Amino acid sequence: MSINQLGVIGLGTMGANIARNAARNGTKVAVYNRTTEVTKDFMKQFEGEGNFASCESYEDMVKALHGERAFLIMVKAGPAVDAVIADLTPHLQKGDIIIDAGNSHYPDTERRVEELKEKGIRFLGMGVSGGEVGALEGPSMMPGGDKSAWEDCKDLLSKMAADDGLGGKCVAYIGEGGSGHFVKMVHNGVEYGIMQLLAETYDVLKNVAGYSNEQLAETFAAWNEGEDLQSFLVEITAKVFEKKDDINDGHLIDKIHDVAGQKGTGKWTTISALHYGVAIPTINAAVDARIMSGSEELRAEHRKDPVRTDLEEPLPKPEQMRSIARSALHLSVLTAYEQGFELMKVASKEHNWDLNLSECARIWLGGCIIRSVLLKVYSDAFSEDVSRQKTAAMYKEQQWSGEKQVHLRLFLELSTSRGIATPSTSAAMNYFDTLHRKDLPQSLVQAQRDFFGAHTFKRKDKNGVFHVEWE
Ligand code: 6PG
Repeated sequence: MSINQLGVIGLGTMGANIARNAARNGTKVAVYNRTTEVTKDFMKQFEGEGNFASCESYEDMVKALHGERAFLIMVKAGPAVDAVIADLTPHLQKGDIIIDAGNSHYPDTERRVEELKEKGIRFLGMGVSGGEVGALEGPSMMPGGDKSAWEDCKDLLSKMAADDGLGGKCVAYIGEGGSGHFVKMVHNGVEYGIMQLLAETYDVLKNVAGYSNEQLAETFAAWNEGEDLQSFLVEITAKVFEKKDDINDGHLIDKIHDVAGQKGTGKWTTISALHYGVAIPTINAAVDARIMSGSEELRAEHRKDPVRTDLEEPLPKPEQMRSIARSALHLSVLTAYEQGFELMKVASKEHNWDLNLSECARIWLGGCIIRSVLLKVYSDAFSEDVSRQKTAAMYKEQQWSGEKQVHLRLFLELSTSRGIATPSTSAAMNYFDTLHRKDLPQSLVQAQRDFFGAHTFKRKDKNGVFHVEWE
């Protein structure tokens, strides 16, 4: 069976646009919002766009949908999702499908899949990325949970999803349980990482190299044309620098308060990486950077700290500066992706999700916030085709072995010597430098542990476990 009728619960911007997207693709859509006024407004604005039924209760909604149906929830993650499920399920029949399309935390999704299975309701926890435009015109969707529910929703979701640019659609079954929301959470962690890397590049170009907003806009727009950095986030960054303030003179970027918000998905990524024992330093540094931007009292206390910047590296010429920053950004973005995929690989093993990482990369090629040409590399790297794997490995090696690595190091020297913090870019460099070393200084940490706690250590030259009296 194939779903041809959809109930959409929650008509905020994302829910409304998902409903419109489904209707534009020929599906009958029943819409409901807790506040009836919102439903009425929706109908007033969009009734003409498709076959909509306006509902004032779940009972109305269930009655309006007689065919092969699914109910998609788009409300704030957390207790609101449980409340909707609790109120909706008594009206449903066995075999009905609920899709939670919000940014739910994956352990909640794991629980909901199980709870609803017991009631005979099929549940999909589906990550949706693309913001409001994506939701309407084609998002990237990451459904996980009941596989038979996916089979039934596949046609509809494929019609609604973005194109991947390779002839496919940006939606695929992710795996059982909470895997869909896990993958979306990691997507957001990578999103935090790349956004922070872009912010650091902006900071250095502006405050080290003295770029104006016009020059920044031109630089990022040019980078967005390249094979290395072409991506949605670089594209919108260029546009941000173009935007004039309509309240006062000048550019809007210079008037925006510098405290970054966060709804939780970045923090969850960091917590789960710690939980699974996976290092994601580029992403963690981005989460910390948002937290530090919000520590306003602490920042005020430290504003007068003595900053010694008299060790300044000489500044390269503007054109060279631009290519240094470009290389630093490109290599650092690669580490953010790398770390995200490593986290998914390890979690997949632990949960037996059997994630297809090549597919995860492919469905991020279009529609989502972190879409970029670089994801093609990861779609190749994790494919089963050995020649694609080799192409990806060669690409990565080439990027790191050339001048770009020298540029990344120089970028960090330039920023550090001038007191400009570049935490995610530094973490990216350190990630690379830690992984390539044959001998790490953690031998000393092992010695210290054995010294004070008899925690034992292994040796390079002998098998077994050792402890010595250090004094
Ligand atoms: C997406 C976005 C989306 C949302 C973020 C914002 O993929 O479409 O990631 O989910 O904009 O959750 O998150 P923060 O408020 O934490 O930055």
